[in-house]
Amino acid sequence: MPLRILIAYATKHETTREIAEVITETLNEEGFEAKAKAVGMVESLAEYDMVVIGSPIYMGMILKEAKTFVIRFADALKEKQVATFAVGMSCKDLTDETCRKVEEAMAPITNRVQVKGEMGMFAGRMNPSFIPIFGRFMRYNKAKTEDARDWEAIRAWARSLAKQCAVAAV
Ligand SMILES: Cc1cc2nc3c(=O)[nH]c(=O)nc-3n(C[C@H](O)[C@H](O)[C@H](O)COP(=O)(O)O)c2cc1C
Repeated sequence: MPLRILIAYATKHETTREIAEVITETLNEEGFEAKAKAVGMVESLAEYDMVVIGSPIYMGMILKEAKTFVIRFADALKEKQVATFAVGMSCKDLTDETCRKVEEAMAPITNRVQVKGEMGMFAGRMNPSFIPIFGRFMRYNKAKTEDARDWEAIRAWARSLAKQCAVAAV
């Protein structure tokens, strides 16, 4: 039976959902049985062998629902293989410093679960309409409309995850 993988994502503006769907598609092409679901829509992890958890970063933090998901399924996640990915505009330039900040943002997940392989760090998408009114003094206020997603990098990460899973399954 192929490994059954859930890609559980949090999102505010759909960017991370679309990334989760491309990861899902790639894993399915690699012969796994993958499915993407918003974290809030997941009722049980019983039907999955592996869970990939993804969240965008806002103001240096992951979305609350991603953390809630990990806390809610803490026991079940101990029995699964877990991988993670983060989405943020800072991931356009993955210096040591940006990687450190992304890892710090993802700590509410990675401190709670045993994670497999390298975290995916993907550039996201920006639109002035994403900026809340109260955020007009923020750095991101000057943001222009931009889609920085590197679909090939996202697919490559999913394929490398698939390779690790295949090795683990032997
Ligand atoms: C108010 C605001 C704050 C943000 N803060 C960060 C941040 O701290 N680090 C980062 O890398 N990206 C940051 N971003 C970029 C988002 O992570 C990016 O827009 C992402 O693609 C949003 O994903 P979503 O559409 O799935 O919610 C911020 C975006 C906004 C609008």
